[in-house]
Amino acid sequence: MLRTHTCGELTKKQAGETVELAGWVHRRRDHGGIIFIDLRDRYGLTQVKFDPDINKKAWQEADKLRSEWVIQAKGKVVERPCGMVNKKLGTGEIEVVVNELEILSKSKTPPFELDEEKAAEANEEIRMKYRYIDLRKHAAMEVMAKRHQFIKFIRDYLSGLNFLEIETPVLGKSTPEGARDFLVPSRLQPGEFYALPQSPQQYKQLLMIGGIDRYFQIARCFRDEDTRGDRQAEFTQLDLEMSFVEQNDILNLTEDLFTKAIEKLFPEKSILTKPWPRLNYDDVMLKYGVDKPDLRFGLEIEDITDLVKGCGFKVFAGMAEKEGHVVRALKVGGGAKFTRKEIDELTELSLQHGAKGLAYIAVKPATNPSSRQLRDRQEGVILQSPIVKFLGEELAGKIVKHVEAKAGDIIFFGADKQLAVCDVLGAVRNECAKRLDLIDKNKIALAFVVNFPLFEPEKEEGHFAPSHHMFTAPREQDLKLLDKNPAKVRSYQHDMVGNGVELGGGSIRIHDIKLQEKIFDLIGFDQEKKKQFSHFLRAFEYGVPPHGGIAPGLDRILMVLMNKNSIRDVMAFPKTGDGRDLTMEAPGKVDEKQLRELGINIKHNE
Ligand code: AMO
Ligand code: AMP
Repeated sequence: MLRTHTCGELTKKQAGETVELAGWVHRRRDHGGIIFIDLRDRYGLTQVKFDPDINKKAWQEADKLRSEWVIQAKGKVVERPCGMVNKKLGTGEIEVVVNELEILSKSKTPPFELDEEKAAEANEEIRMKYRYIDLRKHAAMEVMAKRHQFIKFIRDYLSGLNFLEIETPVLGKSTPEGARDFLVPSRLQPGEFYALPQSPQQYKQLLMIGGIDRYFQIARCFRDEDTRGDRQAEFTQLDLEMSFVEQNDILNLTEDLFTKAIEKLFPEKSILTKPWPRLNYDDVMLKYGVDKPDLRFGLEIEDITDLVKGCGFKVFAGMAEKEGHVVRALKVGGGAKFTRKEIDELTELSLQHGAKGLAYIAVKPATNPSSRQLRDRQEGVILQSPIVKFLGEELAGKIVKHVEAKAGDIIFFGADKQLAVCDVLGAVRNECAKRLDLIDKNKIALAFVVNFPLFEPEKEEGHFAPSHHMFTAPREQDLKLLDKNPAKVRSYQHDMVGNGVELGGGSIRIHDIKLQEKIFDLIGFDQEKKKQFSHFLRAFEYGVPPHGGIAPGLDRILMVLMNKNSIRDVMAFPKTGDGRDLTMEAPGKVDEKQLRELGINIKHNE
């Protein structure tokens, strides 16, 4: 061993002992001829001291040291004089007076400062290019350690419940999860390709058919899609699957696992929702506008379609009459204080989400009303709004009552196709919560969303795309609707949501070959496409246990638990927005010979 102790463990208990430390030069200070180095490793910082009166040679060597050089230092632990104790540092009671120094590796001047306070200023691309330097930061180390502990907790928990951890191939066949596949050309089967798994979905179902009963895997998933805040091309799921279970068994297990993991490893995060609510998709879409609601704050949307039928505001009246269109209101408590500029910004946000406008009524206390304001006066409040003149005072008053708005509140309105209104008011809701500081970063609100529609809303008539994936089972009571009205069929899909992020997804699976074939038909699979799944259907002819599972995305969960803005911050070597690994400089060109072996010709676009 090149060290007797780490840089994080010496206290005055070891005073008088001779020790050897190794690490990086974090900071260097010269004081009256004495050189102090903060020596750093994963475990902490220790002050080492070079005094020319104690050991001239070591001191002369130390004079050459620069940031991030790697050294080994042998010396004696001494207690710091009373006034010099650094209470912030675990090792702050002592320092090591060095009499032997060895330089193990020199470093160029690092491209950015490693001091935590200054580190945030460094450009992210540079940090990603030199990720191995970025990782040396205490905060990054903590993330890596927490990630390890979290995954270990999961492994221990599931192992205790008879789950087997089983690896499934990475070189496999495309599993359609809705994204584009990464393809790997086969050298031995020219012209054929493996697909990297978007998730081990088919493999885990085959494991259930194989009698494994309870499976999990800390699984790498690959999806060739644009990376952004909570999306990476390559990410990690806790993939799990169980046989002979119902939906609630999967939800109960997931809830118990993550509740315990969070309570043990993130005690500072209090879980607001205990037990986790199981929310209906329709209710969630109505109240929060999105299927991954942030439940740390209220701000619920209400439907007022019936209330505004035939009203004097043409936009509302028109939408209220149209099939599939709605008018909805979002009351924001305390929102009447939004300035003109803020309302313009919220309007801009709703336009970005496809809205045609963002009507509002601000409910202000009736103090010193001007004559214009008097017109829209209601029981001690004044309604400021561009639409009250069209709605009429009476209806405006009814709406205010209906959503229980009081002085100081604002009501925003959306009138459009149902999903369009959800999208707009959902975004406005989240933004208002941010602006009104309603989001407590120390809290986490977890829930399951269930009763999803089996299919996405029809884009073309008669054309159905699975809302989750094509192996998700329709709810039993809706089976009869499959022929008549597929759009109305609900499924056994379940999403795990937390703080406005989709943290996981899963379902009870179809285990009946006839039903699976029927779903393929509804999705519009032709013979060719069906052939691609013949391997899967074949397995369904040999005795299939009812089964289901879930796949929580570990990167997203850790991102939320550690209050990070991006999943890049919880990954050791994340990729950039355009899919590059800047540290490794991947993807990269390969030589002609490799391409020839694979039978690949690159067509260069002129
Ligand atoms: P799904 O596609 O819903 O389901 O994915 C499950 C969870 O994986 C995470 N996730 C991602 N995380 C980071 N970057 C991405 N690009 C990304 N895509 C997905 C999310 C998501 O909730 N096989 C099914 C699961 C099942 O049915 O059991 C599946 O993969 O947290
Ligand atoms: P207009 O009469 O078009 O000026 O609209 C009056 C107000 O209603 C403005 O504040 C618009 O932003 C808003 N508005 C217009 N269309 C819609 C709609 N479809 N949903 C919500 N608000 C709208």
